[in-house]
Amino acid sequence: MSYHNPYTPPRKSATFDDYTLAEIRRAAATGIYDIRGAGTKRKVPHFDDLLFLGASISRYPLEGYREKCDTSVVLGTRFAKKPIFLKTPITIAGMSFGALSGNAKEALGRGATIAGTSTTTGDGGMTDEERGHSQTLVYQYLPSRYGMNPKDLRRADAIEVVVGQGAKPGGGGMLLGQKISDRVAEMRNLPQGIDQRSACRHPDWTGPDDLEIKIMELREITDWEKPIYVKVGGARPYYDTALAVKAGADVVVLDGMQGGTAATQDVFIEHVGMPILACIRPAVQALQDLGMHRKVQLIVSGGIRSGADVAKALALGADAVAIGTAALVALGDNDPRWEDEYQKLGTTAGAYDDWHEGKDPAGITTQDPELAARLDPIAAGRRLANYLKVMTLEAQTIARACGKNHLHNLEPEDLCALTMEAAAMAQIPLAGTSWYPGKGGF
Ligand SMILES: Cc1cc2nc3c(=O)[nH]c(=O)nc-3n(C[C@H](O)[C@H](O)[C@H](O)COP(=O)(O)O)c2cc1C
Repeated sequence: MSYHNPYTPPRKSATFDDYTLAEIRRAAATGIYDIRGAGTKRKVPHFDDLLFLGASISRYPLEGYREKCDTSVVLGTRFAKKPIFLKTPITIAGMSFGALSGNAKEALGRGATIAGTSTTTGDGGMTDEERGHSQTLVYQYLPSRYGMNPKDLRRADAIEVVVGQGAKPGGGGMLLGQKISDRVAEMRNLPQGIDQRSACRHPDWTGPDDLEIKIMELREITDWEKPIYVKVGGARPYYDTALAVKAGADVVVLDGMQGGTAATQDVFIEHVGMPILACIRPAVQALQDLGMHRKVQLIVSGGIRSGADVAKALALGADAVAIGTAALVALGDNDPRWEDEYQKLGTTAGAYDDWHEGKDPAGITTQDPELAARLDPIAAGRRLANYLKVMTLEAQTIARACGKNHLHNLEPEDLCALTMEAAAMAQIPLAGTSWYPGKGGF
């Protein structure tokens, strides 16, 4: 006979929580792994775990209305004949036409241009709308080579060689058949309506020496004019940064595990790669060890949402940041005004991540002409520009409060850490102490 203790409520397992149980049942019922968009959903150490100290007796702050605090950045000063000048260090990350609608790509270009920053193509080539509306456009050169051609390389303002992405270091992109419209298929030289799985590594190189040859080829094709970036997922940031510098990169782009994606396996998004917080200091250390800090610029990304995040990334040693998910939200992604339609898709605003299915009610991650027409690229571009302006002003406010006349003068000494994890990963002293775990190495 079983005994039921009336004082003890039924107890659920922390290991086998409701979500985990549902996932096991889903896998058992379908035999299919979960694919989704967006970035890591579980909590990992992040910029929220750091705080600025602000000015005190030993530091004095700058006056907001009277004393200048510069927010500009120049990218590609190492070899390129035409480096890029941006008014704000917040850039728009590479997101493909195919993953995003033509209107969304245009809106990103419009918003970035108003704000005086750059936007980036993606795993699907360069669209005319995007080129036409982006004052500064970075052209991605990816393992898939979809849509790649020398003409577009020359039409770009900079080139980003993509080795990997934070959401899936070691993995390639995915674009499912539902989103392969005639135009997407034509730009990628692939059949309409068939799932596309991009290559996970470049076909013509197997290591850093080949990367050096590739960068040289790209420089020759573009007459040494364009800055060449190398983008890597946050996996081994010290060595990846050092090798990218050795191969001749002008700019290193480092994307942490929180970084968004248009589509990949959930297990990849949640279990591969390191939080951006843990990546920045080793990358900066590599640049410093090579005498290249501030000569080769460092752009970081992965879960950046506010001016505080921007200021923290810069204080840790980055020169600029890139945003993907937050830019889509500013355009109108996951907006509660579409709640009824999210409910019909079995989800809710704020949780919608089936971006691979192409049914986005907000008209952003879709190729469906009716849904895509819902996004007005002019209004959406203005929203993005407003958001970029707010983030820039927020970062500037913090820099002034720390007594800095340029965002790049923010430094690790301006920060303290709230948790032991953040202290160890960011090499920032735990609040109230002068100590962080592992001091002396990583
Ligand atoms: C919809 C979407 C599409 C993306 N497509 C690409 C791509 O084509 N190439 C690439 O290198 N990264 C791609 N990314 C990753 C972004 O470039 C960037 O690394 C990431 O979004 C930064 O993290 P965040 O989204 O948290 O800001 C994509 C991200 C999203 C959200």
